[in-house]
Amino acid sequence: MDISVKAPAKINLTLDVLHKRPDGYHDLEMVMTTVDLADRIDLTETSGGIRLESTSGFVPFDDRNLAYRAAALIKERFGIQKGVHILIHKHVPVAAGLAGGSSDAAATLRGLNTMWDLGLSPEELGDLGLALGSDVPFCVRGGTAIARGRGEKLTPLSPPPPCWVVLAKPPHGVSTAEVFQALDMRKIAERPNLEGMLKAIDQGDFPSVCSHLSNVLEGVTMPAYPKVRFLKERMVSFGADGVLMSGSGPTVFGLVKKESVVRRVVNGLRGFCRQVYAVRMLGGLEGSPLE
Ligand code: C5P
Repeated sequence: MDISVKAPAKINLTLDVLHKRPDGYHDLEMVMTTVDLADRIDLTETSGGIRLESTSGFVPFDDRNLAYRAAALIKERFGIQKGVHILIHKHVPVAAGLAGGSSDAAATLRGLNTMWDLGLSPEELGDLGLALGSDVPFCVRGGTAIARGRGEKLTPLSPPPPCWVVLAKPPHGVSTAEVFQALDMRKIAERPNLEGMLKAIDQGDFPSVCSHLSNVLEGVTMPAYPKVRFLKERMVSFGADGVLMSGSGPTVFGLVKKESVVRRVVNGLRGFCRQVYAVRMLGGLEGSPLE
């Protein structure tokens, strides 16, 4: 059986780092939501082994790729003798703060769960996926959620008010590990108001969602990569309703209600950023991830 699976990008509407844990990870508190920018993963059963191809030269084809590791994990854990050919149609920028690699892994887990009739629940797939990356459990489910712990303790939320999302990815990638390493907990000046964001989402209050956008990792990534601040200021000045860096960066996203303003913001980025996308917020409005 061949299966095609969608792997949407996520953005962080809030991101707070609570403390560093003894295991080296940080306990986080964030609101994440999916947007309509997705990779597509085609899975084809083979007689043995794992082979991975991608339309992008920017992703590794071996076990450094999270989708490859997801397939290896499933095969090993459930003693599957069959193999799989994984073809990743790459659309989500890499090392961007959009969970592109984690979403590919999550989609591979979901797809193989169906292909090999494993009957695992989203919780069980998320538990498995946490070994691959902190964002994988959220990506298994998608939609909108509060994510706590490393990112695996999920509380589903209703979708945020519908809007456009303009994404601008600077040319460089950012290593999440390096951003967390450079984070000085004593220097966090302003933290997200989680309750305020939850109320804004619950009431479908778009201006309030925009005014509650907040990410403490901006304080680490922006000084290191001035382009991130530049893109943020540019999106604000061209009329985006709310602007924030996603995850550990460097992608900056702007939430925009009116289509005419989307055009203005995209035009305002022309010549300053090559990777610009204008997509819809999904946040739970998406259909089945298996198509
Ligand atoms: O889990 P993942 O591989 O995506 O994390 C990449 C790196 O980011 C980790 O090695 C760790 O340094 C840092 N991280 C963290 N706390 C988290 C998530 C990631 O310190 N909750």
